[in-house]
Amino acid sequence: MSDHVKLIYDGKTYELPVITGSEGEKGIDISALRQTTGLITLDPGFANTGSCVSTITFMNGEKGILRYRGIPVEQLAEYSIFTETTYLLINGVLPTRKQLNQFSILLNDNSLIHEDMQSFFQSFPRASHPMGILSSMVTALRSFYPEIKITEEEINLMVTRLLSKIRTLAAMSYKISRGHKVVYPRPDLSYCANFLNMMFDNPVKPYQIDEDQVRALNIFWILHADHEQNCSTSTVRMVGSGRVNLYAAISAGIAALWGPLHGGANQAVIEMLTKIKEEDSGNVAKSVERAKDKNDPFRLMGFGHRVYKTYDPRAKIMKKTCDGVLEKLKISDPLLDIAKELEEVALKDNYFIDHNLYPNIDFYSGIVLRALGIPTNMFTVMFAIGRLPGWIAQWKESVDDPNWRLSRPRQIYAGPAPIDYVPIEDRI
Ligand code: SDX
Repeated sequence: MSDHVKLIYDGKTYELPVITGSEGEKGIDISALRQTTGLITLDPGFANTGSCVSTITFMNGEKGILRYRGIPVEQLAEYSIFTETTYLLINGVLPTRKQLNQFSILLNDNSLIHEDMQSFFQSFPRASHPMGILSSMVTALRSFYPEIKITEEEINLMVTRLLSKIRTLAAMSYKISRGHKVVYPRPDLSYCANFLNMMFDNPVKPYQIDEDQVRALNIFWILHADHEQNCSTSTVRMVGSGRVNLYAAISAGIAALWGPLHGGANQAVIEMLTKIKEEDSGNVAKSVERAKDKNDPFRLMGFGHRVYKTYDPRAKIMKKTCDGVLEKLKISDPLLDIAKELEEVALKDNYFIDHNLYPNIDFYSGIVLRALGIPTNMFTVMFAIGRLPGWIAQWKESVDDPNWRLSRPRQIYAGPAPIDYVPIEDRI
């Protein structure tokens, strides 16, 4: 197969190199396009444009494949824990038992946040959205932990600090939003158990660690841990390319994830299912018809994906986790039944079939979070905690890339021709 393409323009023929990835994906390298042809490319939404070469995550949207550092996400969800998958994504290999124990100790050692940060939480209006609080507090971490010099050791400490503190910040914002006493992290609990304890322990009813819930949370966060160059990860890389500190780049990623077309969809799915239950008496047909109506801005939240043109492999595992965790906790959630019926009706409908619209990770994830007792407005925060290892791994890869440059896309200008300034007294 050819290792170049020919571009014929204005009577001239140009050859552009084609690079091939380790899974056979091919891309035209246009890094010299403008200087050799005077042309740029245009690709709103970047559906056809690669921003980097990466060794972290592989997705095949047609076949529904997702692998972290070569390992299928199905195997990690089955056999791994979130801290181990975090280590894998950031360091490129699975840790030995000794390395995992050391990593867990480091996470525990860095789980507290500076007491002065608690007053920040008090200053937010009570109804503030937890994603806005989290993004602000992650940026604020830089003020409390300024890196002295950029060494490998300093970066690793910053990474571990962030991985551990994001969990504490999220639980703290929840407790303070309810006017409850903050619960501190405990060194004797695992990463996921610690989070659940910080969220739900209280003096009146001490939280009982439930291993089924802890397992469900590990799977939830493993499934969210990375997803190659999605909107928020590309934002982290873009912001990081200016050589800003990690906290600021991650804070930008949290803001990008917040949108309902991206990570905010998990909250939007539950709001949609609740609306179907309460306003349409659980009848899904109306929502399916609305989603197909081009005059109606309504979309079936949790359906469709820029890359997956088949079932999102994560959604399959999340759906199975829903059944498992609800059964073990002896909870029946009417929204799960509605979600399953909605999926069944949509997947038989030609509109969804023709548009390759299938459930994505957000379609069932909210049901798992409801079973864990997480409030709906914190669903995207849960996505952010899960995605943090991926953001960090991608940020590190871009910072370490000798070819990495400041991200600065071009544009095609379509504005007015040159005109002169008109003094205000001459304007009508
Ligand atoms: C995440 O990129 C990632 O990897 C993201 C993510 C990750 O892990 O980081 O996987 C997480 O963000 C998952 C997606 C969560 N978002 C939602 O569930 C919101 C609902 N879905 C969509 O709005 C939509 O499917 C997107 C935004 C996810 C993808 O949209 P695209 O690729 O830009 O496609 P499009 O909007 O151009 O739609 C193509 C066609 C259109 O119809 P036509 O005009 O071609 O006839 O499909 C239709 C759309 O109207 N369509 C939908 C639809 N999604 C697409 N129609 C109804 N309901 C939907 N959900």
